Amino acid sequence: MTLKGRDIISFFDFSREEVEYLFRRADELESLRRGETLNVANGKIVAVIFFEPSTRTRLSFTMAVKRLGGDVLDFGEVQRTSVAKGETLADTIKMIDGYKVDLIVLRHPSEGASKLAAEFAEAPVINAGDGSREHPTQTLLDLYTIWREFKHIDNLNIGIMGDLKYGRTPSSLSYGLSLFSNVKIYYIAPEILQIREEVLEMVERKIRYEKIEKLQDAINELDVLYVTRIQKERLPNPEEYEKLKGLYTVTPSSLEGCKENLIVMHPLPRVTELSPEVDSTKHARYFQQAVNGMVIRAALIKEILGLEG
Ligand code: NCD
Repeated sequence: MTLKGRDIISFFDFSREEVEYLFRRADELESLRRGETLNVANGKIVAVIFFEPSTRTRLSFTMAVKRLGGDVLDFGEVQRTSVAKGETLADTIKMIDGYKVDLIVLRHPSEGASKLAAEFAEAPVINAGDGSREHPTQTLLDLYTIWREFKHIDNLNIGIMGDLKYGRTPSSLSYGLSLFSNVKIYYIAPEILQIREEVLEMVERKIRYEKIEKLQDAINELDVLYVTRIQKERLPNPEEYEKLKGLYTVTPSSLEGCKENLIVMHPLPRVTELSPEVDSTKHARYFQQAVNGMVIRAALIKEILGLEG
């Protein structure tokens, strides 16, 4: 099995075997969790190009590269680049690719931006989030977190709650879960934020799902509750946010009646949808989830660059 040189644009760029292989490789990178640095990526340079705000994705990719012993070419803030002068994405990518970077990690607000970049770049491209569509490495760390917890993903009941319409993590996670067997997804959201038809069409032959409005109607069934924030920046009309915010907030009492070993996940950042009071319950896993992001991204980068050790 080789992921060497592979573009990762959609979660469907992975097979189930590859995903499980990456989980095992990530488990071998335990020393990164202790703050150790390996020297397997000496001389390798990864371009990190973010056209949208990010904390975790950007920092965890950067940390992953540095912990492997490689270096990062950071594009910096868009306003300080020639994009502010009107440069196209294609020109930016061609130029950076011309420097012979080893890998390009791209986040962009337009759907399809990573696919376009991959067409122009010789270096492999990882989609670190494109519009409302996909965020495949987030799904990798989400599934890795579930796998570490339960030792399997088959047969689990997963609640995905919040802004399922404009969020890219709910779509990517649905695609990821569809690679496994007998998974049931509860899509928990008010009707106006429910999962897009296009996502259901991609997964409906492979998973069972139910759309519900209230968490209480499924809480006792869930093994995982994955909460997401309202994607304020993607709402067509900013006034809509005022109406939607506060429509749902998960608190310790929302978890009453849940399974003993339920885990609560969140891609972060959170705003008002997940109360900090949940942090001290035995169910919270979102901060471990974020650390898992650095480790699984390091495993992925190692494979794409074909690094030994
Ligand atoms: C997510 C994203 O950017 O899609 N964040 C992340 O990558 N951890 C979720 C979000 O912004 O709500």
